[in-house]
Amino acid sequence: MIIAIDGPAGSGKSTVAKIVADKLNFRYIDTGSMYRSVAWKSLQKNAALKDEDAVADIASKVKIELIYGKKGQLVFVDGENITDQLKVEEISRGAAIVAAQPMIREIMTIKQRKLGLEGKVVMDGRDIGTVVFPKADKKFFLDADPKERGRRRFIELKEKKQINNADLPTIIEQVVQRDHEDRSRKIAPLKQAKDAMLIDTTHLSIDQVVEEIIKVIVPGSQTF
Ligand code: C5P
Repeated sequence: MIIAIDGPAGSGKSTVAKIVADKLNFRYIDTGSMYRSVAWKSLQKNAALKDEDAVADIASKVKIELIYGKKGQLVFVDGENITDQLKVEEISRGAAIVAAQPMIREIMTIKQRKLGLEGKVVMDGRDIGTVVFPKADKKFFLDADPKERGRRRFIELKEKKQINNADLPTIIEQVVQRDHEDRSRKIAPLKQAKDAMLIDTTHLSIDQVVEEIIKVIVPGSQTF
């Protein structure tokens, strides 16, 4: 069974997807971290992020491991724990740049399909329900008001002490800009799959969103 959860930054999809996976005893796969890892590795190697051949070469060779433990998700790239470096703005921007290039998307889509075919997977991203697994068993599209999404991102960065003096309006602007790029790119743009259930999370708690999703996956479940 494959559950696809797509949506823009700050829609709550990663937090929700992780909890849904835990509750179902499924594996959670965060495809955003995969694109972030490619951007990180490319910057380490001094590759220009828009140099599609160079970045594709890196994407095809890099070993990305997503490991889940009590402290949440850890990301290892070629054996190095880079978890704390992935959420900074430079990598968010970098991920969006590499993710707009066809060769990179093809390589990542193949990796993601392989992971998904192991079964019992909750996968989150931008194109899971539309491109990676168009036949996913259940599809959800999470969205929220841009101001609220920016506010969530601001809090997340503050908690991780990665705010770099940016204020709330700046963070909202960055989130809106990245969404615009993700939605308007030619290949695999961020959009709701026709058969995905839309959940507006603006005024919902994480628990409420999780409950909505679990109700659809396990009909009649009250005590989950
Ligand atoms: O989800 P996250 O914010 O970590 O994703 C970082 C960036 O990676 C997104 O803004 C998007 O450009 C790209 N991405 C994508 N397709 C996915 C997951 C992420 O294009 N399935």
